Amino acid sequence: MTAEVRSVEWSVDLETGVETVDEQHRQYFNLLNHYLAKATENASGSEQAFDLLKKFKFLYEYAEEHFSSEEAIMKEAGYPGYESHRQAHLYFLEHLEELYARMKTQGFSMSLGREVNYYIIEWFVEHIRRTDKKLAGFLKAKPVEG
Ligand SMILES: [Fe+2]
Ligand SMILES: [Fe+2]
Repeated sequence: MTAEVRSVEWSVDLETGVETVDEQHRQYFNLLNHYLAKATENASGSEQAFDLLKKFKFLYEYAEEHFSSEEAIMKEAGYPGYESHRQAHLYFLEHLEELYARMKTQGFSMSLGREVNYYIIEWFVEHIRRTDKKLAGFLKAKPVEG
């Protein structure tokens, strides 16, 4: 089975209208594309595999940071969907941790690389479309204080 390594295109329909959130999403797309480009290079050398592992860790950390800032926004706004949105973030991070552990023990392979790409892209895009946009809708409807 061959699967194409995909790249992530930012599109206007992914915009939530919350500036900091959109900026971080775009930045994450850039990181992902950088990672994808690296992952398609021949990663058989141990140095390259190590480099990919480090980059993957950075993808994890950036996601963690982004989620924290979204969660802070939700808390401050008294968002009623806070708990389930947070659970979705935690679920994603747990899965990334699992993938990271597999990369460390099995070493990097193209098939694992594809699985990682597919998972991150699918999840992240879907999460923006459904969950982050729902939050953005709430923020927009909220009357401005003061
Ligand atoms: Fe987000
Ligand atoms: Fe989110």
